[in-house]
Amino acid sequence: MKLCIIGCGYVGLVSATCFADLGNQVICVDNDYDKIENLKLGIIPFYEPGLRELVTKNYDANRLKFSTELNNSIKKTDIVFICVGTPTKKNSFEADISQVMKLIKKMSSSINKFKIIVTKSTVPIITGDRIEKILSKKVNKKNFSVVSNPEFLREGEAIRDFIYPDRIVVGTNHNRTNKILKKLYGPLISKGANYLQTSRRAAELIKYVSNAFLATKIAFINEISNLCEMTDVKIDDISLGIGLDKRIGQRFLRPGPGYGGSCFPKDTKALLSIAKKFDINLSIIKSVVKSNEDRPDLILKKIFKILNYKIHNKKICFLGVTFKANTDDMRDSICLKLIPALIKKGALIKYYDPTGYKKEFKNYKNVSFSKNINSALEYSDLIIVHTEWNEFKSLNFKQFKSKKLVIFDLKNIYSQNLMTNQNFKYYSVGR
Ligand code: UGA
Repeated sequence: MKLCIIGCGYVGLVSATCFADLGNQVICVDNDYDKIENLKLGIIPFYEPGLRELVTKNYDANRLKFSTELNNSIKKTDIVFICVGTPTKKNSFEADISQVMKLIKKMSSSINKFKIIVTKSTVPIITGDRIEKILSKKVNKKNFSVVSNPEFLREGEAIRDFIYPDRIVVGTNHNRTNKILKKLYGPLISKGANYLQTSRRAAELIKYVSNAFLATKIAFINEISNLCEMTDVKIDDISLGIGLDKRIGQRFLRPGPGYGGSCFPKDTKALLSIAKKFDINLSIIKSVVKSNEDRPDLILKKIFKILNYKIHNKKICFLGVTFKANTDDMRDSICLKLIPALIKKGALIKYYDPTGYKKEFKNYKNVSFSKNINSALEYSDLIIVHTEWNEFKSLNFKQFKSKKLVIFDLKNIYSQNLMTNQNFKYYSVGR
């Protein structure tokens, strides 16, 4: 099939590449000229395991093309996927869908034959209705169909999530459209993915409710981990003990510094904003947002306690600063709250991250990037494991014999017994 994917960000580029890999002809469009030229050279704008190889393979096979030309690209294709950003509006919880709407206004002149317009961007309920209304002012209704087909890709595992999704949700009441999209996703359905056709509004809402539910699980287990710390119970036992009940499920029950990233913080807030418009009180989600926003302060209190409330001139090493492993994404990373607060108290921060230097800290005099993990560790009065990269899991701390290392493992990547047996001062979460 001939597809046009608009937006070469995370969702767009991964989807375009994977669709091309399934044998489709894909044009990936972005208005950022440099990004497009780089992509033609195999330079990917962000870090995602396996993506560069897959882009190159499909570009070389001529199935994946990159362009800045919106209208021509739309004209040449049958299905158009909108994958532009929908960030949170400034000083509000509402999703900013202006990029989507701008695009819709621009694209009407390119609808020269029947086209399926798909929103993959996360958009509030009824956005599809608005898109349809705008397009129908200029285009005959028979010539297009607007669908919601949300993505459920996790950063760092996006290719796998695309190829082996738990479900594919397609929101449309249009039979012809549904048939075409079912055929497009056929190779994934035949590998076992569930295909769910819903109303367009339901598909839009499923995306937000999925993220809000997962965020709720995390906030819930984080609060329970606080209780575990006071009662000498290991949170690992609780996560397993409840997670083995299939009604609860084991995933997303790992405690930590709070959820971050470009999706959970944004989408939980956007869901609250949507509910407010309909005069519905989502009190549980409100508490989840508050619980997660309070969490960095709680972690900071623990850090202060570990350092005996003497923070001035203390050397603190952060292992990993991105919001999770296998990504270079710093958006809503919890360390963006922890590090400035520690600096304010006079701490000296060094960080090591497998994805390199981060511009987010460039204006902080007392924050420096260490290219070498060992020198970062050696330097420190306290090591904070902030991100669960595999390379941190097998670190040989024994080499620092001269020092009694103090480690605060925010991701519980080490065995508590093993660490204390080696005579380290080891702190973790909920145990
Ligand atoms: C999330 C969803 O998992 C995807 O299904 C969705 O498509 C995506 O948002 C999106 O809306 O685009 P992502 O934000 O990439 O994916 O990463 P997750 O693996 O879900 O992690 C989100 C945050 O929760 C991270 O800060 C992570 O460290 C934290 N987390 C996750 C925990 O603290 N505990 C867990 O058990 C799991």
